[in-house]
Amino acid sequence: MTIQTAPPLPSYDHTPAPYTGPSRDETLAMRQEFLSPAILMYYKDPVMIVEGSMQYLFDETGKRYLDGFAGIVTVSVGHCHPKVIEAIREQNERFQHTTTIYLHPNIAQYAKKLASTFPKASGLSVCYFTNSGSESNDLALLMARAFTGNYDILALRNAYHGMSPSAMGLTALNTWKSPVPQGFGVHHAKCPDMYRGPFGYDDSDAGAKYAADVDEVIRFSTTGQVAAFIAEPIQGVGGTVELPDGYLKHVYKSVRAAGGLCISDEVQTGFGRTGTKFWGFENQGVTPDIVTMAKGMGNGAPCGAVVTRADIAQSMAQRLHFNTFGGNPVSMAQCDATLDIILNENIQQRAHDIGGYLMDGLRDLQSRHNAIGDVRGKGLMLGVELVEDRITKAPASAMCADVFERAKNLGLLIGKGGLYGNVLRIKPPMCITREDVEFMIRVLDIAFTEAAK
Ligand SMILES: Cc1ncc(COP(=O)(O)O)c(C=O)c1O
Repeated sequence: MTIQTAPPLPSYDHTPAPYTGPSRDETLAMRQEFLSPAILMYYKDPVMIVEGSMQYLFDETGKRYLDGFAGIVTVSVGHCHPKVIEAIREQNERFQHTTTIYLHPNIAQYAKKLASTFPKASGLSVCYFTNSGSESNDLALLMARAFTGNYDILALRNAYHGMSPSAMGLTALNTWKSPVPQGFGVHHAKCPDMYRGPFGYDDSDAGAKYAADVDEVIRFSTTGQVAAFIAEPIQGVGGTVELPDGYLKHVYKSVRAAGGLCISDEVQTGFGRTGTKFWGFENQGVTPDIVTMAKGMGNGAPCGAVVTRADIAQSMAQRLHFNTFGGNPVSMAQCDATLDIILNENIQQRAHDIGGYLMDGLRDLQSRHNAIGDVRGKGLMLGVELVEDRITKAPASAMCADVFERAKNLGLLIGKGGLYGNVLRIKPPMCITREDVEFMIRVLDIAFTEAAK
């Protein structure tokens, strides 16, 4: 692969500390010998990241990269954001851990603040804290089954909800298929993908038409009574697939008629990332019964949460619910500082404005590169789907891998996903600037031009 001269990154005042640890090759060898072969690694020529500052990452040689993927949508306000680091430092110096068996103000104060981000009328005000998105989804399923007394769960094809056994059962991307079946009691409905599915962007009734499949699944695959329906408002790992307008309104109605609860997995779409709304479900004009979250809530801390209404939470009160690390003082300090920044520093508006600028740049690339079949998403959760032919829409998976690798060599790290591995996923820390967007577009332009040769 020829490596083009990289365009200059925007200037940035940060010198990474000299790296003195094991070399990249030594690290790779240790990883290959001592870590599970199941752990996915991006890039044919792996990159080793040893430092981060806001929207930038540094490898062991001191080379700077623009982070267009934020550790899979996890770093919301910037790597090592000084206010977040200060909050963790203070908490770490004072006291690191006890469990929820004692009182601590951090968990209570953060729960109050988190609850305030939901629409008042939703009643979504009771929080449970976990350590990951998978755990949050596990707990949401348990809660829905406990509350409804039903067992069947509905999810969407092309969904990703995590890697614990029950979350893996919900996940329906063939790349992530479990070696043993995990999804007993889970039924998958048609993915409402307006680019590839039967009802396209030009069909104003697409939401209702795709939702009809959920009715069929309830009718033909369940007893008619279900525990819950779970979906991401925009499928993340599945390749930034946006649900059509009105889709969730129709589905939620059917699910509730079948006695079920509606769960919105906001692990990627929450905390202002879609720009227009704080929570992804708000873009669909619906109110879920349970919301799950993780990743961006902690700006890199391993934490997650489930938020629900008091009546649903009550169904868990007859059981013991305990999580050793969920809601620990350090994670809560980190989540609290992150939420303060999101709420007080216009981060959602920024996701909207900079995301719009990035979307314009990607659409411009689409007008010049035939391989780009679709550009979609909201705010700073965007996807670029590559095809071999715009009519047949044959997935250009190899080209996607090539563009992705070239972009890395040029100083831009982005994600890759979708059922066919042919979607570039762009979800940077929400502190990126217009200059960063211009750099990103220049890099992608070079990478697409070179990959097409
Ligand atoms: C939408 C969604 N739900 C759940 C998860 C699982 O989260 P975790 O990896 O923290 O368990 C992910 C992770 O990528 C996700 O994207």
